[in-house]
Amino acid sequence: MRAFIYRRYGPPQRLRMAEVDTPSPNAEEVLVKVLAAAVNAADWHMLRGKPLFSRATLGLLRPKHQILGVDVAGRVEAVGSGVSRFQPGDEVYANLLDHGSGGFAEYVAVPVGVLSSKPASLSFEEAAAVPMAAVTALQGLRRHGELQPAQRVLINGASGGVGSFAVQLAKAYGTEVTAVTSTGNLELARSLGADQVVDYTTTDFARGRGRYDLILDTVGNRSVPDLRRALAEGGKAAVTGFTSVARLLAVSLRGGKDVVQVQARVTSEDLELLTELIEAGKVRPRIDRRYRFTEIPAAIAYLEQGRARGKVVARVA
Ligand SMILES: NC(=O)c1ccc[n+]([C@@H]2O[C@H](COP(=O)([O-])OP(=O)(O)OC[C@H]3O[C@@H](n4cnc5c(N)ncnc54)[C@H](OP(=O)(O)O)[C@@H]3O)[C@@H](O)[C@H]2O)c1
Repeated sequence: MRAFIYRRYGPPQRLRMAEVDTPSPNAEEVLVKVLAAAVNAADWHMLRGKPLFSRATLGLLRPKHQILGVDVAGRVEAVGSGVSRFQPGDEVYANLLDHGSGGFAEYVAVPVGVLSSKPASLSFEEAAAVPMAAVTALQGLRRHGELQPAQRVLINGASGGVGSFAVQLAKAYGTEVTAVTSTGNLELARSLGADQVVDYTTTDFARGRGRYDLILDTVGNRSVPDLRRALAEGGKAAVTGFTSVARLLAVSLRGGKDVVQVQARVTSEDLELLTELIEAGKVRPRIDRRYRFTEIPAAIAYLEQGRARGKVVARVA
């Protein structure tokens, strides 16, 4: 099969299209013919081997896993001997972050625990856009942030991959949503359902009068004291991203029960819940750019600029 591989850490140009063996699924895996893949920040972090400490798990000198790509949608080609939930031909979507990636390829072996039936109303490209970003938003809001109806919720970075799902999910759970974006993305945030918008180029949400029961910070550019200042009494902040290692460490060291770092772990249960919300018309992926399979390095380079408006996807077949 064809796959993008990388043997050394570096920029997107390091990726090379190569002919490699098609994986064989083990007993608890499904072989998926990949029809679409999404690009995530995790891909460019793993491609560059950054932050450096991540190489302790990615591979100290060179990457252990040579095929990137965590989000896929496609068709089941074959199933392992212990798999009864799926059959060849089923349309599925999955996330491979905790299973060695491998999605930027024509086929990938996926453990059933991170696989779910694809929402019927979505194209393969739209479905591939969902797992990493939407589950991160969901877990950040519900598990870490303890989302409740009627809360005042602020989403920092509301126009990006995680943020565009977070605004819709927070609305689906009956909260009042304030979205923080740059000027050019205010209208996008409103179209996703935000009740109020804050332009970060002119207004600092942490210095304003607003107090929030829950902040989902997808950017990770704010200090812990800034986040605390914007929280209402008893409020919580869940931080998914980070703009520097110092910011990441600060949340771990100076955070606490009220300010927590999100470590999303995608499960098929989360994907099934998202499928329900999507089929109920409450959530829909917002696609920014669509690339061809051969253009995946360009898709990663675009995402790395940090200006995506929703999700960046590639059609694989
Ligand atoms: N912890 C986890 O499990 C997990 C999982 C997934 C992702 N993440 C992390 O979460 C972060 C967000 O991921 P993503 O997929 O949403 O990234 P993304 O799609 O690349 O986010 C880009 C968005 O960030 C916005 N942005 C940039 N600077 C901003 C600022 N100062 N204030 C507000 N918005 C700003 C941009 O909007 P403008 O153009 O308007 O500035 C753009 O819409 C990344 O750091 C990623 O590594 C973590």
